[in-house]
Amino acid sequence: MNHFLDIHKTDPAHLRGIIDNAADMKKARLGRPKGALDDDQPLKDHMVALIFEKPSTRTRVSFDVGVRQMGGQTMVLSGTDMQLGHGETIADTARVLSRYVDLIMIRTFEEQTLLELAEYATVPVINGLTDRTHPCQIMADILTFEEKHGPIKGKKVVWSGDGNNVCASFIHAAGQFGFDLTFTGPQTLDPEEEFVNLARSQGSTITIERDPVKAAEGADLIVTDTWVSMHDPQSARERRHNQLYPYQVNEKLMSHANSDALFMHCLPAHRNEEATNAVMDGPQSVVFDEAENRLHAQKAVMRWCLEK
Ligand code: CP
Ligand code: NVA
Repeated sequence: MNHFLDIHKTDPAHLRGIIDNAADMKKARLGRPKGALDDDQPLKDHMVALIFEKPSTRTRVSFDVGVRQMGGQTMVLSGTDMQLGHGETIADTARVLSRYVDLIMIRTFEEQTLLELAEYATVPVINGLTDRTHPCQIMADILTFEEKHGPIKGKKVVWSGDGNNVCASFIHAAGQFGFDLTFTGPQTLDPEEEFVNLARSQGSTITIERDPVKAAEGADLIVTDTWVSMHDPQSARERRHNQLYPYQVNEKLMSHANSDALFMHCLPAHRNEEATNAVMDGPQSVVFDEAENRLHAQKAVMRWCLEK
C-alpha cells in the first residue's frame, strides 16, 4: 500500500517521480480555469476523505480542488464532528472509512494517530500535518525551488527559527534529495536529533549554527515558519517571541545569503514577527508559489498513492 506518511519513509526514486509528475501536471493545466478538469482523470469514480483535527486553509482547499481536477469527489470531515473525537478508536475509524472511501488524508496532533490510521486502513493514508512533520508542504517547496533554480541537490538551505514539524520534513528532504541544511535558532528549539542524524547518515551536511548571520552565508534558500505552532501552548508565546526574535528573517539577514537566494514560508505567516513584510513581499519571496504548488504536488502524491 502506498501510504504517504513522511518524506524519510518514501523511496527517493518515488519522491523524485512525484515531483516530476507534479511539474508535468502543472504544465498541462497552464491557462485553464481552476475548476477545469485535467485531461487525465486518475481519480475518476474515487472518493477521498479529508480529516481535519486542526484548522487549515491551504491543505484543505488544495486537496479538495486537486481531487476534483483529477475527477474524484471529496468529503471534508472535522475530527470533533466524527465519533473519533468522542472515543471511537482510530483503528475502528480506519476500518470503517476504508469501506466508504478510496483515500484518506488526515491532519492531526499526535503522529501516533496517523500511524494507527495507516496501520488499520485498507486504503492509502496521506499525512496532512502532525505535531511532528508536514511532508506535503515540503514536496510543494521542493517543486517550487526547482522551478526557480533547477535541481535542489547540493544546494544550501537555511532554516531560521523554531525546529518544528515543517523543519523536520525539510531535514528529511535534505537526506532524501541530497541537499545541505543549516538550522539556526535557540538550542531549546533545536530539531529532533533523530532526524538530524538520519539525514547525516544519508550523506547530507546538517549544521546547527546559533549565529543567524553566519548561518545565512552562502544560502540558496532561507526558510522560516511561525514562532508558535498550532500544537504549542499559548502560554509559551511570550517566551518564544523573545527567544526567536534574533532569528527573524529580515532584509539584513537576507543580504548575507546568496544574491539569488529564495525566501520560503509555508504560511500562515505572522507578518513582521518571524519574517518582515519587506521579505515576505520582496523579490526573493516565493511564498505564494509554494501555496499554489501544494495543489500540484499533492495531486502527484495522490496519484502515486493510488498506483497499483
Ligand atoms: N501551510 C499549510 O499547511 O497551511 P494550512 O494550515 O492553511 O493548511
Ligand atoms: N508549524 C505550523 C505549520 C502550519 C502549516 C503549525 O504546526 O502550526
